[in-house]
Amino acid sequence: MKLPVYLYGHPVLRNVSEPLPADYPGLKELVAEMFEAMYESEGVGLAAPQIGKNIRLVVIDADPVAEAFPECKGRKFALVNPEIEILDGDKVSRPEGCLSLPGISEEVPRVEHIRLRWLDEDLNPHEEEISGFLARIVQHECDHLEGKVFIDHISGIRRQLIRRKLNDIVTGKTRTDYPVRYAPTVKRR
Ligand code: NI
Repeated sequence: MKLPVYLYGHPVLRNVSEPLPADYPGLKELVAEMFEAMYESEGVGLAAPQIGKNIRLVVIDADPVAEAFPECKGRKFALVNPEIEILDGDKVSRPEGCLSLPGISEEVPRVEHIRLRWLDEDLNPHEEEISGFLARIVQHECDHLEGKVFIDHISGIRRQLIRRKLNDIVTGKTRTDYPVRYAPTVKRR
């Protein structure tokens, strides 16, 4: 049974997630299931709130976009309790999408150089300077841990233009080719 991806409108996506405790049971199994759900839905990143868990855990496999963004080549990792330090405040806008917001792509301004500290799935600590599109993916996923989604970064005008698409997601009218869970207010049909 593949994990469903929780869609925009579900309150779990709006909570600030809790640090993952060192004795969290079944972490490796959960990481494996999250990778599976991410590959099933052809994403390059997935954060635990998107599978209904408000814990600070992210999986990323950026390799599929390595042709356009060489810094993504072979970059597959799980991030436990990640922390971002901004190294250069200049922002660049590029289109982003999100498995929790199917059918929506918007330009999002983000910084391009960060220092990332995290634990891997064996809880070993890592620290690395990360740039370019990989830094964007990391920021997008870490936003989920703060209860944010990428459209929180777009203008009111842009948001108005995607209002109908957002409404379709919130009301359960959007169709996806991967398993999803709608907001609890959506009636089962
Ligand atoms: Ni996302």
